[in-house]
Amino acid sequence: MNKFRIPITLLALCLTLSFSTVFAQKTSVQNIESRVETLLAKMTLDEKIGQLNQVPGDISTGTDVKKDDLLSQIRTGKIGSLLSHTNFQNKIIMQRVAVSEARLGIPLVFGFDVIHGYKTIFPIPLAQAASWDMGLIERIERIAAEEASADGQNWTFSPMVDVSRDPRWGRVMEGAGEDPYLGSRVAEARVRGFQGDDLAAKNTVAACTKHFAGYGFTEAGRDYNTVDMSDQRLHEIVLPPFQAAADAGSATFMNAFNTLNGVPASMNKNLITNILRGEWGWKGMVVSDWNSFGETIVHGAAEDDIDASVKCLSAGSDMDMAGGTFQRGLKKALESGRVTQAQIDEAVRRVLRFKFSLGLFDDPFRYLNQKRHDETLEKPEYRQVAREAAAKSMVLLKNDGGLLPLTEGSRFKKIAIIGPYADSKGDKDYMSFWTLGLGMRAYDSTKVVRPAQALKPALEKLGFEVTVTEICLDATCTEKDYSTAINAAREADIVIACVGERGLDCGESRCVASLELPRKQDLILSIVGRLSKPTVMVLFNSRPLVFEWANQNIPAILVAWQPGFETGNALADVLTGKVNPSGKLPVTFPRSLGQVPIYYNQLNTGRPQQQQGQMWTSGYLDSPTSPAYPFGFGLSYTKYSYSDLKISKSQYKMGETVEVSVTVTNVGDQAGEEIVQCYTRDLAADIARPVKELKGFEKIKLAAGESRVVTFRLSEKDLSYWNNELKWKADPGKFKVFVGGNSRDVKEGEFELVR
Ligand code: NOJ
Repeated sequence: MNKFRIPITLLALCLTLSFSTVFAQKTSVQNIESRVETLLAKMTLDEKIGQLNQVPGDISTGTDVKKDDLLSQIRTGKIGSLLSHTNFQNKIIMQRVAVSEARLGIPLVFGFDVIHGYKTIFPIPLAQAASWDMGLIERIERIAAEEASADGQNWTFSPMVDVSRDPRWGRVMEGAGEDPYLGSRVAEARVRGFQGDDLAAKNTVAACTKHFAGYGFTEAGRDYNTVDMSDQRLHEIVLPPFQAAADAGSATFMNAFNTLNGVPASMNKNLITNILRGEWGWKGMVVSDWNSFGETIVHGAAEDDIDASVKCLSAGSDMDMAGGTFQRGLKKALESGRVTQAQIDEAVRRVLRFKFSLGLFDDPFRYLNQKRHDETLEKPEYRQVAREAAAKSMVLLKNDGGLLPLTEGSRFKKIAIIGPYADSKGDKDYMSFWTLGLGMRAYDSTKVVRPAQALKPALEKLGFEVTVTEICLDATCTEKDYSTAINAAREADIVIACVGERGLDCGESRCVASLELPRKQDLILSIVGRLSKPTVMVLFNSRPLVFEWANQNIPAILVAWQPGFETGNALADVLTGKVNPSGKLPVTFPRSLGQVPIYYNQLNTGRPQQQQGQMWTSGYLDSPTSPAYPFGFGLSYTKYSYSDLKISKSQYKMGETVEVSVTVTNVGDQAGEEIVQCYTRDLAADIARPVKELKGFEKIKLAAGESRVVTFRLSEKDLSYWNNELKWKADPGKFKVFVGGNSRDVKEGEFELVR
């Protein structure tokens, strides 16, 4: 990029001069509106359309787009925002051109996908949700915002709050799982973490809640595919996390790629104007997804760029990401009278307001300070949080005979750590495609603490003898190629098998048609299984996978997800018992692909099946209907008992608060953290209601032997549903309440709601 070569001293001088002359005026919340109007009055139509145009920077996160000379486009006011630009110095140069060479000096806003950390990489979002720890999630996003803002990013395309029930979909890793209540709490925590309480502060970034809406219900789990659903499912399952993010103050929203009931989300007026801006009263700016305005043409819902521009703008979308559709179509749409000047002005106002609220007009270089940049990125203390997060995200699915933890004085002596992910240096392994802050390909894999790298010394310190053998994952590998690992396993007393998915199997456009352990890893496990050695399976995954053989034959299974930079340390913490696992599944793990979609908050049907083989009921001939592991499930090295479920009254009037309490006791011999979950079921409503709906949870710490009473308070709103008159409403009648450590194993009680 020769065009960026400008001597640094000259640059510094330009920055100072341009800043002091153009941005002498200070912004306050009160005068933003008048400054927006003053600026708008000076803008030409081309400059206005330029503000609605967002172009990709030095990395690409989507289909190819044509990139003309960025600097000359910025200079001529054709670009309002850049996305996915990594080079810090270039951002300074681009901003300087925008504020001091373009006619009106409107600063650029830089957007970036900060999905599970920026420079310090945390566990994938789905894993974070498995911690059910909102304070932790907020801290993670605070750090992500510190780093991203210090590197010149103003705006993250996160949180992704799409509820999904389909593990085939590669983006299930970016969300908070299958539940709208948990998803809503996570959405709020992320927005708070990114934005803090001052969007204009130097160390915060604007959130962008995405993908509005329905993307997680893409048919057949195929990315970008059709979405079709009832209004009730939309309101009860899909929209709540979006509304929670809007209420938490998310500055922006992003359209989704999919059609929703036939209408592409980017031109879906019902979603954007009626629901988001209308019913919810949200005031922010809506950006398209990558060329999603242009893709309305491909969907067959718009004729050309002009038609697409008319439809997307009229629906309430504002900024065009990477597509250039508005650049090509909006002016002609205005000239032909298909959109009004007022409509364009309204979209531009939202963009300008957004830039003012970030403080960019007061100091366009506030996020481009070299000193802060150098001091902030990858601080060692961020790693501590990454380690804590990775350990708290891990979910122990099985631990037969108390095989784990591996502690000093164990009956085992020799440990074989084997498997393709024992010590992998593969591109983005233990992470995901969404670690763009590290660069697309050429990143430094030594930043990741690999499993064996930390596990081996940690176990040796406890007196074990440890061998580490990797296993080839190449499609051409045969049983013979596994022989070194098999021999190591044969020599050992206990095996730790690290299996799962590659980092690059996780994220956008990474959907799968099989949920089995990829690349023949089942075979590896079954060969090891023949040795009849106690085995711990550590799964690195971005989605629920299917591993029935392991469920039947392997005594200990730990879901580690993709844990990020601190993978090895966190794994060592959990396997050696330094950290007692407390994560719980935010998503159901099926027994087989054929069960998908499988989720805990299902309807009962008129013929629910009690056991497999019961004819004329809703089941399968060849499989139970129950999942391998239910939503909310996760073991600990200690045990908890639930007793004394109390509902304060048997009848409540509408508007009264239902109080439910339960005593939780740590009946094991070590301290732990338990996630206590509260579900309800409306037994007779005007429409069929789910068998369980999560209404609250609390994560508590209990010392060995300690008991605690946990109380949940349910409001009328908690008991309401989207009824057949298209309104939220609670019905009088009987309700069940369930409290437990997962969605299956619960204590239950009943109460009645009366008028
Ligand atoms: C497409 C993805 O769907 C979206 O989530 C992301 O923010 C943009 N590309 C930008 O990378």
